[in-house]
Amino acid sequence: MTIMTFDFTRPAVPRVEPESCTNCGQCAEICPSQTLTVVDGKLRVEAGIFTGCIGCTHCMMVCPTGSVTVEGRRLAPEDIGELPPVEARATADQLEALLSARRSVRRFSEEEVERRVAERIVEMVRTAPMGIPPSEVGIVVFHGRDKVRQFAEDAVEGFRKVARFLNPLVLALMRPFIGKAQYAVMRQFVRPVLDLIVKRWDEGADDFCYEAPLAMLFHHCPTGDPADDHIAATYAMLAAQSLGLGSCLLGTTVALDHDRVFKAKCGIPQQNKISLGLVIGHPRTHFRRSIRRQLASVHFV
Ligand SMILES: Cc1cc2nc3c(=O)[nH]c(=O)nc-3n(C[C@H](O)[C@H](O)[C@H](O)COP(=O)(O)O)c2cc1C
Ligand code: SF4
Ligand code: SF4
Repeated sequence: MTIMTFDFTRPAVPRVEPESCTNCGQCAEICPSQTLTVVDGKLRVEAGIFTGCIGCTHCMMVCPTGSVTVEGRRLAPEDIGELPPVEARATADQLEALLSARRSVRRFSEEEVERRVAERIVEMVRTAPMGIPPSEVGIVVFHGRDKVRQFAEDAVEGFRKVARFLNPLVLALMRPFIGKAQYAVMRQFVRPVLDLIVKRWDEGADDFCYEAPLAMLFHHCPTGDPADDHIAATYAMLAAQSLGLGSCLLGTTVALDHDRVFKAKCGIPQQNKISLGLVIGHPRTHFRRSIRRQLASVHFV
């Protein structure tokens, strides 16, 4: 479900240039908030329904005469770009090949990932959808092995605290509130995984970031939609794949969400929710086959 963002109460503001507008109505036809409507053959800008203009900028994208601009909700003029020509876009076969060739990579070569490559991945993430604009996704980029190592060290300290907290007594007390299934997940998966990562770290092995040269940590404001982070992380994962890099998503980072010290160190606002992490690097593993997994269910109705 789409959840409101901090800027929810402040609608974006579309402006129409009356001299060049031909009243063709194309913008009104696709406006999801009914802020743009055509009345008696004339385009009108109104308050719209519910939240008003959401700042999707679809009106700008379709106007044949370039007569609409939208301001507010963190929109900047340089956000608007040329549409890539059809021949430059990935075909379904190319996209499917990219998806089929992707695997989670946990073994990386010594090679660093150049900063411009890391920046390109972030640029591609900026094309991701979100529940309602503007995006409330934040990314902390740990660029270079030293930075990733520090991130891993800080995270493992956080895991140590969480694992200590999730002792059998606390879990038993939590059970009525979190339910049977979540209790089982905490007891049989979360706690043992954190214990394992900490144990391996103490033995000198990084089973959290896998000694990757680049890591990203996704977070969002508390009223934002958590799905936005997941979509952004998925875009980053596929962007990395398209650049010849390997990556692995990290779900364990969620356990750091209540760690104030960790958040302060990473520059993440205390109220923000930490979700997925992603480690990226040049793959040392070369996979020879692909897989299509059975989904839990698919129903055409
Ligand atoms: C939401 C999510 C969280 C994940 N968390 C971790 C993680 O913390 N550590 C890890 O090594 N792999 C993690 N993975 C990678 C999965 O284990 C991996 O995707 C799965 O085993 C399937 O392998 P494939 O990605 O090569 O298809 C995660 C994947 C997803 C989608
Ligand atoms: S930005 Fe989106 S919601 Fe706002 S006026 Fe344009 S089409 Fe409508
Ligand atoms: S699409 Fe452009 S020209 Fe057509 S009605 Fe909207 S603002 Fe006017």
